[in-house]
Amino acid sequence: MTAPGPNADELKEILQIAARVPDHGKLSPFYFIVFQGTERATFGKHLRHLWAQDYADATQEQLTHEENRFMRAPVVVAVVSRIRESKIPVWEQLMCAGACCYNLCLAANACGYGTNWLSEWYSFDERVHDILGLEKGRDNIAGFIYIGTATEVQDDRERPDLNDITNLWTSGQMPDKKGNNYNKDGAGIPHNGFTIIQSEETK
Ligand SMILES: Cc1cc2nc3c(=O)[nH]c(=O)nc-3n(C[C@H](O)[C@H](O)[C@H](O)COP(=O)(O)O)c2cc1C
Repeated sequence: MTAPGPNADELKEILQIAARVPDHGKLSPFYFIVFQGTERATFGKHLRHLWAQDYADATQEQLTHEENRFMRAPVVVAVVSRIRESKIPVWEQLMCAGACCYNLCLAANACGYGTNWLSEWYSFDERVHDILGLEKGRDNIAGFIYIGTATEVQDDRERPDLNDITNLWTSGQMPDKKGNNYNKDGAGIPHNGFTIIQSEETK
């Protein structure tokens, strides 16, 4: 991805579109942090510093790689998922922030720009959260959306076979097409399972 990226007016329009997502309770459970210009490199210095802290034997090449992460696109937008005080379940608020990320990609694509939705290690690092001013317990990085001019046409990836994941509800028969053939590495279900159950709030 290279320059040009969206100009100020285009970026405003892209963010406006991105923010208009299905949103139970109209909470806007997300906010944006835009990185552009020289501030991308400044942020990169933090990543370099943190990497050097964690890996005393890091090579110059690795450190330069960390420093240049945000230089891979002219604009990077962090979509921060922020839990609002509300009766709306947290699960729905998190999904809404995810929808915002995808909407941001689609809006930028519609304006002719390439996008890449990345998390990488720095999305999950508490020190990075502190640098960005995220509030513990309610703010999380939903995604860093890299936006710019695509330098190559991407191959499409293999799509899921609908026969593997689509069920027709039939009384007395349990849905069994659950895409289990897409499980990876035999690693098991993360976090020992993850089920959203009915709470008082959702009744
Ligand atoms: C929440 C989320 C986080 C992602 N993080 C990464 C990442 O850290 N590194 C990566 O290579 N791809 C990541 N991806 C996948 C890319 O966004 C993208 O799907 C992939 O590069 C292939 O592009 P394509 O989907 O257009 O084929 C992430 C996707 C999502 C939804």
